Amino acid sequence: MKAGYLQFRPVFGDTDANIKKIRKLISRKRFDLLVLPELANSGYLFSNKSELKELSEEIPGGKFCSALKEICIKNKGHIVSGICERSGNKFYNSSILVYPDGKIITYRKLHLFNTEKKWFAKGNLHLKINEIRLQNSERVKTGMMICFDWIFPETARTLALQGAQVICHPSNLVMQYCQRAMFTRALENHVFTITANRTGKDVKSDGEISFTGQSVILSPRGNYLFKGSKSRDECVILDIDPSEALNKNINPQNNLYSDRRKEFYKLH
Ligand code: ACM
Repeated sequence: MKAGYLQFRPVFGDTDANIKKIRKLISRKRFDLLVLPELANSGYLFSNKSELKELSEEIPGGKFCSALKEICIKNKGHIVSGICERSGNKFYNSSILVYPDGKIITYRKLHLFNTEKKWFAKGNLHLKINEIRLQNSERVKTGMMICFDWIFPETARTLALQGAQVICHPSNLVMQYCQRAMFTRALENHVFTITANRTGKDVKSDGEISFTGQSVILSPRGNYLFKGSKSRDECVILDIDPSEALNKNINPQNNLYSDRRKEFYKLH
């Protein structure tokens, strides 16, 4: 399976420029599954609700969705991307999975980070598995989570327990921990993880914020299959074998799932 990420710097407020950059970086590349950063249509640092209204779009009718659909149909691959979503009078920090037949599935970020709580409604959709079919007819179970969701291990665990083989993780990371922490998310669940981070800064008259790049792809055994650069645009696509994520044995005596002592856990 050809899977990877696209790392770039979305320009705040310029969806057309962001679509153009995505098209250019993807070009004619062959992929089964490509993950893009969080809020890839809009940029991150909102200052007021009118920006949010202007830069958000309905799923699946908006121009960002339409552009990704066109790319997926043409390149015969799947894309997962962060998107600033409008639904009625609410706004969500969302992620979409776009299929090569144009179908779109939505996930809405459950754990909002810092000032995102001012702008976005909390996600209200369950974490679920989306099966994709590769060109060789192999079926692969994928899941989506967004950026700060990483710090709540229940997020990746919920996806893994439902059978996720590849966790797609659009991100706009500002702290230094996640790229290291994803080692644990991958290893403790024996899943592939693809964290697609953005680079650069959003600079506004009322403040600025910098993002850390260094997108990462991890294997179910916790190997870093790729670590991206801090600041370059990159489209990285690797050959991975998703069946590796089906084996939950750690050694002949230990299994990540059957060794769980659920009766002793108290998670709420
Ligand atoms: C984040 O969740 N964008 C840090």
